[in-house]
Amino acid sequence: MSIAANHTGREPLILIVDDDPAILKSIVRFLRPHPYTVYAASSAAEGIEILKTKGQFQLVISDYLMPDTTGDKFLHEVAATWPDVRRVILSAYTDRAVLLSAINEGGVHRFLTKPWHTRKLLEVVEELVADYGAEEAARAEISELARKHQLLVVTNHQLEELVSQRTADLEQHRQQLQEANGQLRQLGSHMEELREDERRSIAREIHDELAQSLSAINLDVSSLLNRVKEPKLHESLGGIKQQIDHTLATIQRILAALRPQVLDELGLAAALEWLVNDFSRRNCIPVNLECTLDSKRLPLQIATTIFRITQEAFTNIMRHSGAYRATLRAWQEQGVVYLAIEDNGIGIPDKEQRRPNSFGILGMQERAALCNGSLTVSNLESGGTQVMLQIPGEPAREVLP
Ligand SMILES: Nc1ncnc2c1ncn2[C@@H]1O[C@H](COP(=O)(O)OP(=O)(O)O)[C@@H](O)[C@H]1O
Ligand SMILES: [Mg+2]
Repeated sequence: MSIAANHTGREPLILIVDDDPAILKSIVRFLRPHPYTVYAASSAAEGIEILKTKGQFQLVISDYLMPDTTGDKFLHEVAATWPDVRRVILSAYTDRAVLLSAINEGGVHRFLTKPWHTRKLLEVVEELVADYGAEEAARAEISELARKHQLLVVTNHQLEELVSQRTADLEQHRQQLQEANGQLRQLGSHMEELREDERRSIAREIHDELAQSLSAINLDVSSLLNRVKEPKLHESLGGIKQQIDHTLATIQRILAALRPQVLDELGLAAALEWLVNDFSRRNCIPVNLECTLDSKRLPLQIATTIFRITQEAFTNIMRHSGAYRATLRAWQEQGVVYLAIEDNGIGIPDKEQRRPNSFGILGMQERAALCNGSLTVSNLESGGTQVMLQIPGEPAREVLP
C-alpha cells in the first residue's frame, strides 16, 4: 500500500513504513497540511521499492516489528544505500535492548514510542528534515569549494606552464641576443683591424711618396737658396722654402694622427711618451707618465688598443675636464696589462646629465672588450676622473669566417 500526499515535486520526501494500515493512514493524514510529500509502505520490501523509485528521501519512519523484518534491520539496509537519509523508529517496544539495537544496527537518529504525541512527532520530523537540509547545503558548499579549488589548481597549473614557456622563450631570446652580440663584436673587431691596416698603409704611402719627395725638393730649394745671390729671386725662393716647411709640418701632423710611426717602429712605451708630450705641449696640461710595459713583448692588437684608448681619454680631458694636471700609468702584473689615466678636473657627470650621443667612452669600452679586457670610467675621491683599463696578456684573436 502506498499513499502519497502533498506531492509538489519540491517538498522534502518522507517515507513511513508500518504493517498497520490504521497507523499509516493516521500519520499521513496528520502530516497532510504540512509541506512534505509523504509516502506510506506496509512492508520493508515495499519501502525499499519506493525509496528506489521516488527520488531522494529526507526521512524514513519505520515500525519496529514487521512481518518481513524488524525496523533496525530495515533501516540498516536503508542506510547502506542512502546514508544521508534521516531515520526514525516508531515502536511500541521500549525496552533497552530494542532501543540499543535500533541505534546501533539501524543507525537511527530518533526513537519514538507508540502511541505518539502528534506535537512531538511533528517536532522530530521538522528537526530531522531541517537537519538533512543543512547537511545537504553544507555538502553543496563543500563540493562548490572543491570545484573552485580544482579550478584554482588547474589555473595555477596553466599559469605555471605559461610562466615556464615564457621563461624558455626569454632564455631563447637571450641566447639569440648573445649570439648576435658576439657576431657584432667579431665584426667590430674585424672592422677595427681593417681600419688600422688602412691607416697604416695610407700613412706609409704619404710618408714614402709625398713627404720624401717634398723633403727632396726642400733640399734642392735650400741648396739653390745658398747659391742664388740675386735679392728678388732669393726672397721668392725663401718664401717657397717656408711653404714647403709648413706643408711638411702639416704632413707630419696628419701622419701622426693617422698612425704614429713610432708605435709600429719603437713600440707602445715610446708612442705613449710621444702622445703625452704632444698633448702636454698643445694643451698646457702637464702629464706625469709612468710606463713600465715591455713594448717588445706586447701584441700589436693590445698596443694599438692602449694607444687609441689613451688618445680618446686625452681628448676627453682636453674637452670636458678643466683639469690642469694629469697622470698616465701603464704596467703589467701577473700577466694582466693595466692602464690608468687620471685628471684633476671637475669629474664625470651622472649618466643622465651627459650628452645623449656620446660614444667616446662606449668606444673605449668596446675596444677593451675586443681584447677580452674591461674599462671603467669613474670619479676620484679627490675630484677628477679616472679611466681604468685591464687587459689579459693574450689578445682575443677573432677571425671572421
Ligand atoms: N675626463 C673627463 N672629465 C669630465 N667629464 C668627462 C671626462 N670624460 C668624459 N666626460 C663626460 O662624459 C661624457 C661622455 O664622454 P664621451 O663618451 O667621450 O663622449 P663625448 O666626449 O663625445 O661627449 C662627456 O660628454 C663628458 O660630460
Ligand atoms: Mg669623448
